[in-house]
Amino acid sequence: MMRAPLALLLPLALMACSNTPPGASASVIPVNNTAVLAANCTTCHGVDGRGSGDIPALRGRPAAHLIKRMMAFKNHQVTGANATVMPLMMQGYSATQIEALAQWFAKETP
Ligand code: HEC
Repeated sequence: MMRAPLALLLPLALMACSNTPPGASASVIPVNNTAVLAANCTTCHGVDGRGSGDIPALRGRPAAHLIKRMMAFKNHQVTGANATVMPLMMQGYSATQIEALAQWFAKETP
């Protein structure tokens, strides 16, 4: 009597487990997701990039300014006391990601 319902449920259970497309892994962070990238910045730049202590605010600053600064860090054009962590930080970001981050923080109202 109990075998028939189980046999019907098993294929349903298997279907529920097969939502992940072939080749995709649930543990891979989507690096094209700007919200994920921007979350890294708020550790130092404060909640929503509002600035924290000596660390400048990013929120509401013109995108062109943010891109210029980030590319300067990435290309080692900023040195000395004004370049502590950002030159190293920016090595991990592509120009496309830098532009996306700049647009992300620029569109927020200060
Ligand atoms: C470990 C702390 C830390 C993290 C994480 C961090 N920053 Fe910074 N950021 C700084 C510091 C400190 C400065 C000042 C320059 C320096 O000393 O390198 C700065 C400066 C900047 C500036 C220059 C602002 C200006 O007006 O001159 C920009 C733009 C910037 N950061 C963007 C980002 C973005 C975007 C991220 C995330 C991808 C990020 N930062 C992550 C600490 C951090």
